[in-house]
Amino acid sequence: MSSNEKLDRQGIFMSNAMGGPIIAPAPLEQLSAILDAGTGTTGWLSEVASLPGLPTSTELHGIDINNARFPHPPMTQDGSRQLYLDVIDLTEPLPEKYHNKFDLVNVRHVVTWLDPTQWDIVYRNFLTALKPGGFVQVQDTRMTVPEDFAKYSPGIKKYVGTMAKVFTLDSPAQVEIARILPLLPQHLPTLGYTDASQTIYPLLYGKLQPDPEVRKAGIAQMMGSARGFQARGAGCEGERLKNIVDGVIYEVPASFDEWDAFITESEHTFNEEGWALPMRITVARKPQ
Ligand SMILES: C[S@@+](CC[C@H](N)C(=O)[O-])C[C@H]1O[C@@H](n2cnc3c(N)ncnc32)[C@H](O)[C@@H]1O
Repeated sequence: MSSNEKLDRQGIFMSNAMGGPIIAPAPLEQLSAILDAGTGTTGWLSEVASLPGLPTSTELHGIDINNARFPHPPMTQDGSRQLYLDVIDLTEPLPEKYHNKFDLVNVRHVVTWLDPTQWDIVYRNFLTALKPGGFVQVQDTRMTVPEDFAKYSPGIKKYVGTMAKVFTLDSPAQVEIARILPLLPQHLPTLGYTDASQTIYPLLYGKLQPDPEVRKAGIAQMMGSARGFQARGAGCEGERLKNIVDGVIYEVPASFDEWDAFITESEHTFNEEGWALPMRITVARKPQ
């Protein structure tokens, strides 16, 4: 599977859990322009385009710092609608043509990967891009939010605690991001937003996932990440990598065979226990 397909599949997985790609209470028939910020493959825009009730006149815009994944020509996946795509760095002031233009700005799996010192700049840019009364919808999962981690089963904690180390989610900057993500609804009003709220939708993996096809794809995604690290020899050189969470030591496999054993054990855990990974959707509004 190409990395574009992986991103799209993950996006559809997220939208399924939310009951659709938009949960911001914006009436579809009144949306004249929508922006997907850090749009990547533009997968979210294609999902939105297929929503019954979205006017054919609604402009679908996508911006990203890197256009490598943009479709050519700039159309939705079913080829039915034009997309307006632009290369833009979200941490820089937005061009004037984007000011006060959008009824909805969506941002999925982007801001939590930026340095927290840049978050306010990005959220202020979204405020500038929104029409008065327009909505921002922020979609994020984070494996290591402390209050979430505490709820995982021991087997899932071992998977997450180990993978978090190789993803470097235990670095001070990443630990801080995991701490502040749940606080976003309290923070956005300090930047000028109103009506900020956060809803948690669980992404269901393994035993907890009722749809057999989605279950298979979810486990494949999780074990695929581990296989990727195994193939790169992660943890196999130098001192053994360890992550200590809540006083428990999670050791990263230190050989190809140890990775095999870890993956077999993790797959068993997913099948026997399952995992509900909280996805946080934060919605806020630009004042009227
Ligand atoms: C994990 S991908 C998510 C893509 C898409 N939102 C999705 O859910 O499929 C993160 C995206 O953010 C983009 N990105 C990262 N930093 C950015 C920045 N400063 N300005 C604009 N886009 C950025 C990356 O190029 C990448 O396409």
